[in-house]
Amino acid sequence: MENEKIIVEKNQGQPLLTNQTEGNSKKLYIESYGCSMNFNDSEIVASILSKQGYNTTHLLEEADLVLVNTCSIREKAEQTVRKRLEKYNAIKKINPTMKVGVLGCMAERLKAKLLEEEKIVDLVVGPDAYRDLPNLLEEINAGRDAVNVILSKEETYGDVSPVRLNSNGVSAFVSITRGCDNMCTFCVVPFTRGRERSREPKSILQEIQELSEKNYKEITLLGQNVDSYLWYGGGLKKDFKNASEIARATAVDFSQLLDMVATAFPKMRIRFSTSNPQDMNLDVIYTMAKHENICNYVHLPVQSGSTSVLRRMNRQHTREEYIALIDNIRKIIPDCGLSQDIMTGFCGETEEEHQETLSLLEYVKYDFGFMFAYSERPGTLAEKKMDDDVPFDVKKRRLAEIILLQQEHSLYHTNKFIGKTVEVLIEGVSKKSDSHWKGRNSQNAVIVFPKGDEKMGDLVNVYIEDCTSATLIGKRV
Ligand code: 5AD
Ligand code: SF4
Repeated sequence: MENEKIIVEKNQGQPLLTNQTEGNSKKLYIESYGCSMNFNDSEIVASILSKQGYNTTHLLEEADLVLVNTCSIREKAEQTVRKRLEKYNAIKKINPTMKVGVLGCMAERLKAKLLEEEKIVDLVVGPDAYRDLPNLLEEINAGRDAVNVILSKEETYGDVSPVRLNSNGVSAFVSITRGCDNMCTFCVVPFTRGRERSREPKSILQEIQELSEKNYKEITLLGQNVDSYLWYGGGLKKDFKNASEIARATAVDFSQLLDMVATAFPKMRIRFSTSNPQDMNLDVIYTMAKHENICNYVHLPVQSGSTSVLRRMNRQHTREEYIALIDNIRKIIPDCGLSQDIMTGFCGETEEEHQETLSLLEYVKYDFGFMFAYSERPGTLAEKKMDDDVPFDVKKRRLAEIILLQQEHSLYHTNKFIGKTVEVLIEGVSKKSDSHWKGRNSQNAVIVFPKGDEKMGDLVNVYIEDCTSATLIGKRV
């Protein structure tokens, strides 16, 4: 994602700031880790708390309430949060009225353990319980511990208008689904974020309308698995007795939602993340091809290039089916940018199976990717039923081989842009140089070029003269 994943990762741990509401006197310090969904959730939390008298601050020391929105996807993500909790508790010794709360996936996974056994927080709130924050805060103010980790089959926060945190005022995330029903054997998400549910199209369009009125230029439709988006004409899955009844209702699937959004907002650049190969159908690709304003970019995690590993992961597709999907995407949108997530060293992965991942990479030649070593997560099917038997140094070596090959492919793709003119949405100032803008093209490649009289949010044409494997460098034409 991005790279929105990269942008989000750069922001990891930074306090998120909102517009200040006049009259609010309490101070909220909120940090986020993990995926874009988590960052979007923090915006929902800030919105709920702004109605409770809280404004955000970037100074930990002056906060009345410190919240950390957490990720459980790999062990390392949890370790990072634990270090932060130590830091908050050190400050709490100086400022004992300060309250500390854990939100998100770690809250859901560890539940009251953080409060009762470890006594490192005052408040534990799972991803579906943010509406309960006002009550929970009353509980802690009355001197009681507060926990709500109830997962919901309906909650989408559809009516909560997120306040935009640390926003560049140009691009924003819009959640369309929550949770995941896929049950990949390695993944903690179905346990931390619960069952999959889709948000009503009307509220999605309303949120984009508000963003458009505020002059935002790009939105990313977000979900753990956007391709399985399904809204049953005014009802939820549970409201219908059987499949034929559902079929008779006027359902909206992801390709239809994408079409509705692109048609209603022709000037808005539209992206989406994350796709899932087993749920993505070609209607989505045809809809992308139909609309100029939908970016030609698909993030399509594969995890492994080996059908036998995919089977152990409970991914519902084979290597061949994945390749057929990639071939179809390229047939319909020849210049489509593609990226992957790959996880190496999953239970029982042999050297031959690893070679199949490398050969899949060679075949697809992704524009970029996000690569990880398998990290066993408590409670998952893999943890219960399989052996995490690939030694750490083997995982490390395989990961290095995958990353090296991906870098070659990234450079191959960025090189192809040299001598071409690309359309860039200006998203901010380059991190490395104040005199350069940074933005992305439709395929999600990052471009930097010298500043002129343009401004943030402008769409400009840039002639590409040079590149690295991660960045295109050019000048405005
Ligand atoms: N260990 C390592 N990586 C994981 N991912 C998901 N679960 C795990 C795990 N247990 C990776 C997958 C996924 C991405 C978001 O994180 O590649 O697509
Ligand atoms: Fe991390 Fe997954 Fe939770 Fe996002 S949904 S915060 S990636 S565990």
